[in-house]
Amino acid sequence: MKVGVVQETFPGEHRVALVPTALAQLTKAGLEIVVEQGAGTAAGYPDAAYRERGAVLAVSRQEVFQDADIVVQVRSLGANLENGVTDLGLLRRGQTLIGMSDPLGEPKAAQQLAALGVAHFALELIPRITRAQSMDVLSSMATVAGYKAVLLAADALPKMFPMMMTAAGTISPAKVFVVGAGVAGLQAIASAKRLGAVVEAYDVRAAAKEQVESLGAKFVELPLETAAAEGQGGYAKQLDETAIARQRELMKKTVAASDVVITTAAVPGKRAPILVTAEMVHAMAPGSVIVDVAAERGGNCELTRLGQNIVENGVQILGPRNLPALVPYHASQMFAKNVATFLLHLVKTGMPAFNLEDEIIRDTLITRDGQVVHARVLELLNKTA
Ligand code: NAI
Repeated sequence: MKVGVVQETFPGEHRVALVPTALAQLTKAGLEIVVEQGAGTAAGYPDAAYRERGAVLAVSRQEVFQDADIVVQVRSLGANLENGVTDLGLLRRGQTLIGMSDPLGEPKAAQQLAALGVAHFALELIPRITRAQSMDVLSSMATVAGYKAVLLAADALPKMFPMMMTAAGTISPAKVFVVGAGVAGLQAIASAKRLGAVVEAYDVRAAAKEQVESLGAKFVELPLETAAAEGQGGYAKQLDETAIARQRELMKKTVAASDVVITTAAVPGKRAPILVTAEMVHAMAPGSVIVDVAAERGGNCELTRLGQNIVENGVQILGPRNLPALVPYHASQMFAKNVATFLLHLVKTGMPAFNLEDEIIRDTLITRDGQVVHARVLELLNKTA
């Protein structure tokens, strides 16, 4: 069976779905790999490295789609709406397409893939169960995002992060407040600590306190009814507007006293909650920085503009798009590990007759035999019909 790796076509997407070091385990399992020329270049993986690991280089994208039984991408149609359509003419009935495709945000894209008779697996929907941990692209990419957010903040801040005692005087450490201590938030905390900042953090899930403290940061106690905030699978539930308003009120002082605020708060399937209002931004000192890691999900700061850095009252508000693509080498390495583990799982559980008894397969299979087969995506499509 042949696995095809194509170059990403989403603007600014420098990642690649498989890196050369991930190929050995796939070829060992009997898979052949065909890679579009230049697919890994932007991530730092030259064609020669793929060839050395046993891949066949294809001169064109068409050739990859023609040859491959399975095509792997970072971004499939739903996550690459404009440029992804060009692949629709290249896909063929019976082919398998694996990638992130935002199926819950863009369910109509699933219909387009279904119409082609393609079996599509959306990697965002890998269940959060222990045996699927090494396939979990959301966690691996959130790790990269949390790290990079801190670097962007450190770069934008007119201060240094660490405390320094020098002959030219003492520099006090920067104060960083991380809101939301999931995967991205915890990595932001760890990264800010490594740079020497004094770090505080908050999450609505009570379980996050211990994790925050284990990284050496201070957990900000807000007397909110957090028991109700624990949802399924360790995720947060959406708070109602009264609770959010109270949270903002309680966070005001900490936000105002921080040099850097990194916001990562999110609730699956919902718009990110607005936790930092314009009024709270105005109470921050000029020169302070907010990095809104939730910008793509609507943003945690009222003033965030996706893909823009704005200045309000001397405070910089960064709304970065696609943070993992800014660290393409390691983001691709991690993504490739997730994809390779998923591919091996597909082979083991049987393909192309996919085993729907298996939770990992069932949760990620979006289309098959000309139909959208994923229950949640179907529900969304019925709602909009
Ligand atoms: P996420 O990216 O969906 O959200 C980020 C964080 O925002 C979460 O920690 C959430 O509690 C928090 N949040 C939501 N509303 C908030 C508010 N109003 N104020 C402050 N914080 C708010 O979350 P992520 O990073 O995907 O992790 C969520 C959970 O999933 C965690 O418990 C994590 O440990 C768990 N997890 C489990 C895995 C597994 O079992 N394989 C893998 C990765 C994560």
